[in-house]
Amino acid sequence: MDQHPATRVVHQHTPALPTSRPISVPIYQASNFAFDDPDALADALNAPDQGFAYSRYANPTTRALEETVAALEGGAAAVATASGMGAICSALMGVLRSGDHVIAHSCLYGGTYAALTYLREHYGVEVSYIPGEDPAEVARAVRPNTKMLYLETITNPVTRVVDLPAFAAAGKQAGLLTVVDNTFATPLLCRPIEHGADVVVHSVTKYLGGHSDVTAGILVFADQERYRHGWHHTMEMGAAIDPFAAWLTLRGIQTLALRMRQHCANAGRIASLLDAHPAVEAVHYPGLPTHPDHEVAKRLLSDFGGIVTFDLAGGRDAGYRFTKGLRLVKLAASLGGVESMTLHPASTTHRQLDADALRAAGIGEGTIRLSIGIEHVDDLWSDLDQALA
Ligand SMILES: Cc1ncc(COP(=O)(O)O)c(C=O)c1O
Repeated sequence: MDQHPATRVVHQHTPALPTSRPISVPIYQASNFAFDDPDALADALNAPDQGFAYSRYANPTTRALEETVAALEGGAAAVATASGMGAICSALMGVLRSGDHVIAHSCLYGGTYAALTYLREHYGVEVSYIPGEDPAEVARAVRPNTKMLYLETITNPVTRVVDLPAFAAAGKQAGLLTVVDNTFATPLLCRPIEHGADVVVHSVTKYLGGHSDVTAGILVFADQERYRHGWHHTMEMGAAIDPFAAWLTLRGIQTLALRMRQHCANAGRIASLLDAHPAVEAVHYPGLPTHPDHEVAKRLLSDFGGIVTFDLAGGRDAGYRFTKGLRLVKLAASLGGVESMTLHPASTTHRQLDADALRAAGIGEGTIRLSIGIEHVDDLWSDLDQALA
């Protein structure tokens, strides 16, 4: 059929690759897929493993990311989302109903705390916060309507490490679903599903992406049944990731092992140097023997992560002057990129917490969070040291 140019420009040629395949995952920047068979289209809209129909439901590039992270986490399957908060809210809202109760660690990312507060105020979801030091806290907090235990592997920002196997077992005993935010640890340092978690969430924006150029999240499910429910819910809520963000993340993940090794080595060195500095009151790094969870961290993590948090002796004013005095380390809201970053949690990432919640989370006026990058450690220390001076 000889077509008009107006038709030809619309219906472009898609090359088939009969004898080779691309080394890197292509970006399927398509919102929509064409079918020959109407039944196949209907099937693809009904289930995540019946083909690709519409990218809010499933997309080949996104699927490559989901399968990569599910395998890294040792989960059955994963659903990638447009942000870490998209993954967290989907994990919460996919399970909780009005009147349900959640037990959560008192030290969580401020956005998660805000989401739980929102669910309480708008949907009557009850929330109890526990210190995360003794697994018996779970049984003490359980109510007849408790549905979920929510934890972070390494907490933001003061790097507490709960005894995940013991807490997940206590949750299981009470019939709760355990959700773990594994953003700080990444699956290279800890695989929460192996320790009893049912759902793992990530802000992919951080270490998985790794280059401060993508905003994304992911949910990993321990079993297929929960995955199917989670896929359906996330798709209906419209939290889907864009294929280009999925591709950037896949590219970032290829160097995750190398980056994590350098993040951890640099962070361990910086933590020790800060610990010996007179302007520093306390250093929170799970790799330090003085950290309250050092023994748990040694058991649970294969390394101690790239986040070093510390308390400056001079309080908020010292914190302000310190972050202003840095030249190499960037003052920035996020973390987990190749470049070192810092911020003052009480006034930024955890501004949603009132004074009591800040105290419960261990965040002081002079607390500074450092996301240690992969630069040469001597250059990092030289910048931190001059800012401390
Ligand atoms: C531990 C943790 N979880 C979740 C999030 C939210 O992720 P996103 O900003 O990608 O929505 C953050 C963001 O800082 C975080 O630090």
